[in-house]
Amino acid sequence: MKPFGVLDDVRKVFERSELGRGAREPLVAIESISCTFGEGELVSLLGPSGCGKTTLLRIIAGLMPKSAGSVRIRGEEVVEPHADFGFVFQTPNLMPWRSVIDNVLFPLEIIGRLDAAGRKRAHDLLEIVGLGDFHASRPHQLSGGMQQRVSLCRALVHQPTLILMDEPFGALDELTRMEMNDLLLDIRVRTRATVVFVTHSIAEAVYLSDRVLVFSRRPGRIVEDITVDLPYPRSAATRYTARFSELDQRASRALGVIKDVPPPVAHGASDDGPHGGVHGALQGGTHGH
Ligand SMILES: Nc1ncnc2c1ncn2[C@@H]1O[C@H](COP(=O)(O)OP(=O)(O)O)[C@@H](O)[C@H]1O
Ligand SMILES: [Mg+2]
Repeated sequence: MKPFGVLDDVRKVFERSELGRGAREPLVAIESISCTFGEGELVSLLGPSGCGKTTLLRIIAGLMPKSAGSVRIRGEEVVEPHADFGFVFQTPNLMPWRSVIDNVLFPLEIIGRLDAAGRKRAHDLLEIVGLGDFHASRPHQLSGGMQQRVSLCRALVHQPTLILMDEPFGALDELTRMEMNDLLLDIRVRTRATVVFVTHSIAEAVYLSDRVLVFSRRPGRIVEDITVDLPYPRSAATRYTARFSELDQRASRALGVIKDVPPPVAHGASDDGPHGGVHGALQGGTHGH
């Protein structure tokens, strides 16, 4: 796969002046992160709260300066947010005085591309997420899940090539979250965008991703790079397969949440071929779409 994003020895230290009063020393948020991701890949950053996931995502987004290292997207060092990046944060952050459609159109206004095609795309996106009838509503008239769908449309309306998502479904109830996971997989097939997805949910990371990068506690380092070879299209049934459970266990082990259970027994050779077993990261990343 073509490298799309290249992170090289990224480090972030918050200086004493950036921390609260009484901070005695600088805080190393992320230690030395190097990884690459391919065009069209969905990569999850999975780690415990406070390990530096948001910090890294904001650095990749160009929203926060790094202390050292380099972040290149399509070969270009990121120093500020690009017009073809899309963001979804944990809270929808919709403007309460604007209608749903006007919230979705906002990025097009900012980049000066608000035209008829953009308006049509905004309406089409609202249809895709099931909110076609709500374009004139105000955010307060929608549930939390609906608001997050609007913010997803807003992130997609300018056809970004890279979508950065920071625990976007973390505040939703579990059923809504699973629906949103399927919606994201569906949107990915349609847009082919590259996605960097921050989560602390192991099951969500495995279900959505092509690859899961597991972080240590702060200062965050990547302790494991797990290739998720679950076939597409994924559905609720995928969550109950043996392979899903193996990958879930592998991520759990890397996070340190299971220690005393022996590693899962690998499938027979007929299942896994020459790469074999849970720890045989499959190469080549065939997506099936
Ligand atoms: N803007 C900031 N100023 C000072 N410290 C920060 C800032 N952002 C994050 N931190 C600190 O960096 C560490 C990592 O935070 P964060 O990236 O938000 O973790 P995560 O998203 O994994 O929960 C935390 O200790 C946090 O307090
Ligand atoms: Mg965070």
